[in-house]
Amino acid sequence: MDEETKRPRDSSVHILLIGASGSVGKLVLEQALSRGHAVTALVRNPDSLDYVRGKPASENLTVLQGTPLNKDDLQKAISHIKTHPRPAVIVTLNNTAKSAQDPPPPGQCPPHLQYDVHKLLLPLMSQHQINKLVVLQALGVGSSWPNLALPIRLAVKYTSVHFSWDDHADVDRFVKAYGDDNDVQGHIKWVLVRSCMFSNGPAKEAHCYGEDGVGLPWFPSISRASVAKFLLDSCENDVWDNKTPVVANNAPKR
Ligand SMILES: NC(=O)c1ccc[n+]([C@@H]2O[C@H](COP(=O)([O-])OP(=O)(O)OC[C@H]3O[C@@H](n4cnc5c(N)ncnc54)[C@H](OP(=O)(O)O)[C@@H]3O)[C@@H](O)[C@H]2O)c1
Repeated sequence: MDEETKRPRDSSVHILLIGASGSVGKLVLEQALSRGHAVTALVRNPDSLDYVRGKPASENLTVLQGTPLNKDDLQKAISHIKTHPRPAVIVTLNNTAKSAQDPPPPGQCPPHLQYDVHKLLLPLMSQHQINKLVVLQALGVGSSWPNLALPIRLAVKYTSVHFSWDDHADVDRFVKAYGDDNDVQGHIKWVLVRSCMFSNGPAKEAHCYGEDGVGLPWFPSISRASVAKFLLDSCENDVWDNKTPVVANNAPKR
């Protein structure tokens, strides 16, 4: 990577990445750095990002140890990006809860992980006038539920996977209502990305199927790298602001 690509451009964003150690989060991190953005990653275990050290543009990465469920940790992370002309937050967390017990048994995920994080995050974003939020969600959340294939809907309904979808749905409602109730000047532009099932492979074009997934093929999929690219594109542009794009690599039938 040459110096020109490494140097943050004027249009560069300082991204607070929550979920940077995850399968999509890592790809967001790598792609963001290669686009010349600065990234602050809030992770429970900084060692999980060791592999980035020494890679091109890694000087634009700050790793903070902490959890987004702790207000002080989140506040510290927000303070880190707030002075940049274009601060933004990308969330790629994954709820793996197995029970409704809250607080959960040691080592397990809380049932409302994402909701609890966003309840802390949005007021901090408002307070510091950070006006862009991009969240990785899933096809089937909210109004896109009927367009999730029936076998997956059954799996979601009758297994512990429902904690993840319920949590995404709570965030969907909370983020939309937060705009109406607390952010009357519309400072926070959000994009709630409803991704289809992940696959591996390179970053390719993400086709959007509106906000609900109407017209999707039977089992649509998208590579993690394409999801990461779409999250970053949505962070940089305003095309999907205040929308819930459903994304897949499958091209729509003509
Ligand atoms: N799999 C699919 O086909 C598919 C399809 C569509 C949408 N999605 C959505 O994609 C999202 C991300 O998926 P992924 O595969 O990238 O997830 P992943 O690899 O499991 O990564 C999850 C991230 O969440 C963090 N995390 C989990 N529990 C946490 C907790 N209790 N406190 C703090 N951080 C926690 C992890 O941090 P640690 O490293 O510290 O654990 C990690 O950074 C999910 O929301 C999922 O619903 C998945």
